[in-house]
Amino acid sequence: MKTDLRGTELLLDPRLTKSTAFTAKERESLGLVGLLPDAVEDEDLQIRRVHQQLGHKNTDLDRYIYLNALLDHDETLFYKVLMSDPAHFLPIVYDPTIAEACLKFGHIYRGPRGMYLSLSRKGHVRDVLRNWPEKDVRVICVTDGGRILGLGDIGANGMGIPIGKLQLYTATAAVPPRVLLPAFLDAGTNNDELLHDPLYLGLRRTRPRTEELYEFVDEFVSAVQDVFPLCCIHFEDWTGVDAVHLLKRYRDKVCCYNDDIQGTAAVTLAGLMNAVRIKGSKLSEERILFLGAGSAGIGIADLVASAMRQEGLSEEEARGRISLFDIHGLIESSRKDLEDFQKPYAHSMKPTKDFVEAIEAFKPTAIIGVSTVGKAFNKKVVEAMGRLNHRPIIFALSNPTDHAECTPREAYGWTNGRAIYAAGVQFPPLHLDGKTLVPSQANNVYIFPAMGMAIYATQAKRVTDEMFVAAAKAVADQVTQHQLDDGMLFPPQSNLLEVELDTASKVAESIFEKGLARVERPDDVGSFIRSHAYEPRYPSFTRH
Ligand code: NAI
Repeated sequence: MKTDLRGTELLLDPRLTKSTAFTAKERESLGLVGLLPDAVEDEDLQIRRVHQQLGHKNTDLDRYIYLNALLDHDETLFYKVLMSDPAHFLPIVYDPTIAEACLKFGHIYRGPRGMYLSLSRKGHVRDVLRNWPEKDVRVICVTDGGRILGLGDIGANGMGIPIGKLQLYTATAAVPPRVLLPAFLDAGTNNDELLHDPLYLGLRRTRPRTEELYEFVDEFVSAVQDVFPLCCIHFEDWTGVDAVHLLKRYRDKVCCYNDDIQGTAAVTLAGLMNAVRIKGSKLSEERILFLGAGSAGIGIADLVASAMRQEGLSEEEARGRISLFDIHGLIESSRKDLEDFQKPYAHSMKPTKDFVEAIEAFKPTAIIGVSTVGKAFNKKVVEAMGRLNHRPIIFALSNPTDHAECTPREAYGWTNGRAIYAAGVQFPPLHLDGKTLVPSQANNVYIFPAMGMAIYATQAKRVTDEMFVAAAKAVADQVTQHQLDDGMLFPPQSNLLEVELDTASKVAESIFEKGLARVERPDDVGSFIRSHAYEPRYPSFTRH
C-alpha cells in the first residue's frame, strides 16, 4: 500500500497504523524511527498483549472501555481481536455490557464516533451528513434513543447501540468497517434525570410531537439517498409504535429495515423452522399465540404469516393461524383500542384477559413471549400447552434474563421434557433425566450482520420479507440433526463468521432472484460474498 502519511500522522491514524508491527524497513522509509520501541512484533504477539491487558480489567464495562479505546488507536488490531473469537467478545462489546455502557455513556465518553444529527439542524441534514469523511457509506444504523434495550428513553446515551451493532456487522459477518456509519438522530429526551445530568451529551430538550419527529426522520432518510445513494438504513431501538410506523413509511421506497422488528422476526422464524423439523410437521400446520403485541410480536407474526404463505396458505389462512394477547387481553375483533398493525390479527373470538383461557380457546401449538413480563409463562400456562400438545413449542424471548417469560428448567420441567424451548437470553445447559439439554437463544446476531453483508455486496435496492425468510431458512438449515437432538434450534456460535457468510449468500441469492441487486449476478454467489469480506490484516507499506 502506498501512503503520503509519515511519522506520527501515520502512527496515529487508526485505520492505517500497524503500531509495533511496522517493519524495520517501513520505520526507515516512513519516518517512524524513534517513534516506536525497538521491538518489531507480529500480530499474534500484539493480540497476546491485548488479552493480557483485558485479563487485568475487573469488569466487562472496563473491558468494553478498553476495547473501544483500542479501536480509537488501531482498528485492525481491534477487529483482529474480536474476530479471533466473536462469541467470546459479543457479550463485552454488545449485550449485556452495552446496557451499562449506554446508561453511563456521557460519563465514560472518550471521543467522537459516528454522527450526531440534531433536531437543531433541521433543514440542514444533508450538509451535516456531508461532513462524514467516507463518501461511500453502505449501512447507517440509526436510533433516536427512544427505547434502548429494556432501558426506555435514554436519549443520546443510546448512541452506544448503533456503535455496538455495527461493530458486530464487522466482527461476525466481515462487513468492512469503513462502509458503516453509526448515527444518532437527536430529537431530545423525556428522561428528566438525563436532562439534569451536567455530563449528558445530547440536545437538552424534551421530545417533539410525533409529526415533527417524523418530518425530521423524513429529511434524514431523503438526505441519506442523496449523500450516500447505495446506503441501507438500519433502524434500531425506536419506541415500538414509531418503529412500526417508520418501517411502513419507508420500506417500499428506500433500502431500509428495522432489526427489532424484522431481525427478531427472522431469528424467531429460524427457531420455529427447526422446531417443526423436530416435530416432523410444517410451519403452515402450526398455530401460534403471542404474549405481547408490540414491535417484536407484530414483526414475528407478520414474517411467520409471510413464510406460511410461501408454503401455500392464503393471506387469510396464514393470519388465522396466528393470535396475539397483550396487556389488555386477547386481541380480538371487539377491541376498540388496537393499532392499525394489530387489526389483521383481531379474530372473531370471545374476549378474555386470562392467557390460559386464550390458550384453551385458540389451541396453539406454539406460544411466543415478547411481553417484557418475567415469569408470565407460569406453571398453569406451560401445563396447558403440555396438555394440548405432545411437543409444545415455548419461546420465552423477553430479556434481560429476569424478564424471560419462563426458564428452560420450568418449560422442560412442567412438560416432562417435551417442550421445544428457546429464550431471548443465553441460559446454561441443563441436565434432565440423564440428558444434557442446550437451551437455544434466539439472538438477532444470526441475522442482521448477514443481512448487512448481503445488502453491501449486492448493493440491494430494497429489503424485503423474502430476504428475511431466506435468512431464517439459511440459519435454520445450518443446525445438524445431532444438534437438534440436544435441543439446539440455532447453530453454535463457535463458527459465527461461517454461519453469517453462508446466510449472507442465501440472502444475496434471494436479492438477485428478485431483481433487487444493483450489480450483476455472479456465477458463484458464495464466493462473491466471500470476496467482499473484510480481513483485519495490516497492509505492507511502500513510500509514495
Ligand atoms: P413493546 O413495548 O413494543 O411491546 C410489549 C408488548 O407486551 C405490548 O404489546 C404490551 O401490551 C405487552 N405486554 C406488556 N405487559 C403485558 C402483560 N402483563 N401481559 C400481556 N402482555 C403484556 O416491546 P417489544 O419491542 O415488542 O419487545 C418485547 C420484548 O421482546 C422485550 O422484552 C424484548 O426484550 C423482547 N425482544 C427479544 C428479542 C430476541 O429475543 N431476539 C428481540 C427483540 C425484543
